[in-house]
Amino acid sequence: MPLVYSWPAAPRPAPSFRLLESVVSNAPSPSSLHQRDSGWSGRFSEPVAETVLRYTASVGFDRRLAEADIAGSRAHAAMLARAGVISAADLAAIDGGLQRIAEEIRGGSFEWQLELEDVHLNIERRLTDLVGDAGKRLHTGRSRNDQVATDLRLWLRAAIDEIRAALHELRRALVDVAERHAATIMPGFTHLQVAQPVTFGHHLLAYVEMFGRDDERLRDCRSRVNRLPLGAAALAGTSFRIDRQFVADQLGFEQVGQNSLDAVSDRDFAIEFTAAAALAMVHFSRLAEELVLWMNPGIGFIDLPDRFCTGSSIMPQKKNPDVPELARGKCGRVAGHLAGLLMLMKAQPLAYNKDNQEDKEPLFDTADTLLDTTRIFAALVPGIVVRPDAMRAAAERGHATATDLADWLVQHGVPFRDAHEIVARAVRLAAEGGIDLASLTTAQLQSISPLITDDARAVLTLEGSVAARDHVGGTAPRQVLAQVARLRG
Ligand code: ARG
Repeated sequence: MPLVYSWPAAPRPAPSFRLLESVVSNAPSPSSLHQRDSGWSGRFSEPVAETVLRYTASVGFDRRLAEADIAGSRAHAAMLARAGVISAADLAAIDGGLQRIAEEIRGGSFEWQLELEDVHLNIERRLTDLVGDAGKRLHTGRSRNDQVATDLRLWLRAAIDEIRAALHELRRALVDVAERHAATIMPGFTHLQVAQPVTFGHHLLAYVEMFGRDDERLRDCRSRVNRLPLGAAALAGTSFRIDRQFVADQLGFEQVGQNSLDAVSDRDFAIEFTAAAALAMVHFSRLAEELVLWMNPGIGFIDLPDRFCTGSSIMPQKKNPDVPELARGKCGRVAGHLAGLLMLMKAQPLAYNKDNQEDKEPLFDTADTLLDTTRIFAALVPGIVVRPDAMRAAAERGHATATDLADWLVQHGVPFRDAHEIVARAVRLAAEGGIDLASLTTAQLQSISPLITDDARAVLTLEGSVAARDHVGGTAPRQVLAQVARLRG
């Protein structure tokens, strides 16, 4: 039987929701007022079309906000009770109901309904089913607009904390390997050509710096994520005598959003996080690219443990660095989410617009991708098998100490530009003879500059070269160990 693909594609598999056939219709019918069962039905004279329901509902993905939604609702209810807007009995009923719902969700028995659109209306409806009128009072002085903004901030705050913890583990792992290889010499590259010798420890610590700045950015971003929108209600605030600071304290927010229009419509916090995440992913992609290169048998600086590699279905000899390659690829997807979120916000008029429902999937995926990538690199780094001999051999092949000879000539009175020229000619002589600069005899060097003496040849060694770069930020083993000590401190 031929394999046939049809277009338009077969209908997408129905999501695993119970769809109340009574509340949706494919063709609008005018007489079904009583049948609509959403959280906002009174104003409407016909059921929502099923295509529209599927198009507008977010419960398929915003269910992830359930825990945050429940925490926000409990804080809001506690505040309403303190302010005398609801009774203590209502608060007790709401609290008990919400705790039970949290258990149902965790246990997988909660029945999500597509026609209730989103996580907020699903939970509120269930609460009303469980506790009656008290459940209907929960939404007093609140809107889904300030509710969703609060949920998202709570969710992202927790995600940032997890990512930062993972970054900490990764940096610790890099520092450990750097310490072991503080004196392991490898070629440093510019233009991917051998430039000067460096230590492998120094090279790894460059990534510790990058990931350290990523962590700083996340910490900084967190303080802007950690501001309370609740109380803004739909957009203008509420006529109830609410206590926003109390809600902020309950939920651990550092500040109360100071403008209700901004509080419900701001998604800078999500964009800012995604920008920081995209940059972190760029850093991962750089490290990933180096791991792939270093593991290439033609270079052979490292090997990766089998548990981080995969084979080929056709070429039996293959061992592929799939993890770093995927990280490199996932960088593109997070950068795409950043572009998507920027475009989502572009030209949105104040205040809340349904556009903002589109913030969740890219934000969730960004946080997931960054967390997974960070964790897998933290696990992979300690397993890197270093091949110091291959690194050394490569450093010996590229005239890597040419700058050191030029520096020696400068120390003996030759202007730097002239020294550069002398050494360039020495490199040409070595290259013509098929040897490295460091292998030229003193006599050969003297044929280019009579100033060169035997002790000039000492600076041509790889060890001499790295040890000479002994200042803060330099590649000398002493400096690498000093950085390790600083980073551990
Ligand atoms: N699901 C909505 C969202 O994610 C919640 C807010 C709905 N607000 C509204 N006015 N329709 O943004």
